[in-house]
Amino acid sequence: MKPNFVQALLAFTVLLSACSQTTSTSSSTDNSGGIPIGIAVAQTSNVALLGQEQVAGAKIAEKYFNEKGGVNGTPIRLVFQDTAGDEAGAINAFQTLLTKDKVVGIVGPTLSQQAFSADPIADRAKVPVLGPSNTAKGIPQIGEFVARVSAPVSIVAPNSVRAALKINPQIKRVAVFYAQNDAFSKSETEIFQQTVKDQKLELVTVQKFQTTDTDFQSQATAGINAKPDLVIISGLAADGGNLVRQLRELGYKGLIIGGNGLNTSNILPVCKALCDGILIAQAYSPEQVGEVNKAFRAAYQSQFKKEPPQFSAQAFTAIQVYVEALKTIDAQTKVAQKTLPELRVALNQTLLKGQYETPIGAISFTPEGEIVQKEFYVAQIKMDADGNNGKFAFLK
Ligand code: ALA
Repeated sequence: MKPNFVQALLAFTVLLSACSQTTSTSSSTDNSGGIPIGIAVAQTSNVALLGQEQVAGAKIAEKYFNEKGGVNGTPIRLVFQDTAGDEAGAINAFQTLLTKDKVVGIVGPTLSQQAFSADPIADRAKVPVLGPSNTAKGIPQIGEFVARVSAPVSIVAPNSVRAALKINPQIKRVAVFYAQNDAFSKSETEIFQQTVKDQKLELVTVQKFQTTDTDFQSQATAGINAKPDLVIISGLAADGGNLVRQLRELGYKGLIIGGNGLNTSNILPVCKALCDGILIAQAYSPEQVGEVNKAFRAAYQSQFKKEPPQFSAQAFTAIQVYVEALKTIDAQTKVAQKTLPELRVALNQTLLKGQYETPIGAISFTPEGEIVQKEFYVAQIKMDADGNNGKFAFLK
C-alpha cells in the first residue's frame, strides 16, 4: 500500500507543478502591489528559532530596497508562507508560492533537510530558489534553478576547529555529537570529523541524537566518559542548546563548538549561563565594511537593540540578489513586459552572472549556483553573570 500512496502523491505533485507552468504561461507578472518574491521559511515549530531571524532580515531588505526605488521604480513585495520545520510544510509553502502567489523567485527553506524535498518542485516549475541558510553538501546540485547565499559546511565549519586549537593548543581528544535525522547535521559532522583527522586529533566518540530530543543524558554521559577536551555539536538550536546545557550540568569543562544550526542568540534562553564559551563559525560579521551592511546593521540595531545575526544577514542578501538581478533584466526589457515564466527563467540566468556587494561581503555564484564568498569568522558566546543575556563576541 505505502509505495503506491507515495507514487500517487509524487504524481500529484508533478501534475500540480505542470499545471502551474501551463496556467501561468499566458499571464504576465502581476506587479500591481510590487514584484512578488516568495519567502518560505520556518515561522513556527522549533525551527522558527532560526526562521524568525530570516523573516527579520528579509523585511529589513524589503524596506531598504523599496526606499531606494525597488526595481527601477517598481517596488518588490515579499510574500511569506510558513514552512514550519518539516518537509511537508516546505513543500506546501513552495506550492502556494508557485501556483497561487505567482512569485518570481523564492527565498527558502530554512533547513537543508527541507530543501532536498521542496527545491525540486520549484526547479521543475523553472522558478529560481535562493537558499538563505542551507549549508549541507549538494544543495546547488539539486537543479539548475537552485542556488544559495549560505556558504557550505566544508568552507565554514573547519574555521571553528582552528579557533578552538588557537584558544587551547593542548586539545587532543574530541567528542562529536550530531543529529542523525537532519541532512545538514549529517553533512556538517562529516566535515567536522574530517577536520579532526586533518588536525591530527583523536576522535574519541561519536554520539547521535534527534533534533526533536530534549533528554541527552545517555549521549552526554557516554561523551564525557570518553574524556574529551573538545566537544563538537551538529544539530539545531533547541536540541543543540539543551545538549550543551546537559553536558555542562554533568560536569564537562572543556571547549564546545556549535555548528551552523546553533548560530542564533535564540539558544541563549535554552542553555542560559551554560552557553558561555560556545564557539560558532560565522559567515557574517556585523563589522563587514560597505554601505549596504552599514544600512542593514543600523536598521537591525534600531529595531532589535542588538547586533544582526548571520541568518538575518543572509536573508537580506538573498533579497538583494533578486532585486539587483531584476534591475539588470528590467534595464534591458521592462520586467512588466515579460510573461511570468519568461521572467522566472531570466531571473535565474541573470542572478547567477551577477556580482553583489552585500552585508556578507562581495559575493557571486558559480554556474551551478554555489556561493563564492571570501570572508568568514568565528564568534564565542559571552554570557552575563546572571545568565539572562549574552552576545556573540567575534574572535580576532
Ligand atoms: N544550516 C542549516 C541547514 O542547512 C540551518 O539546515
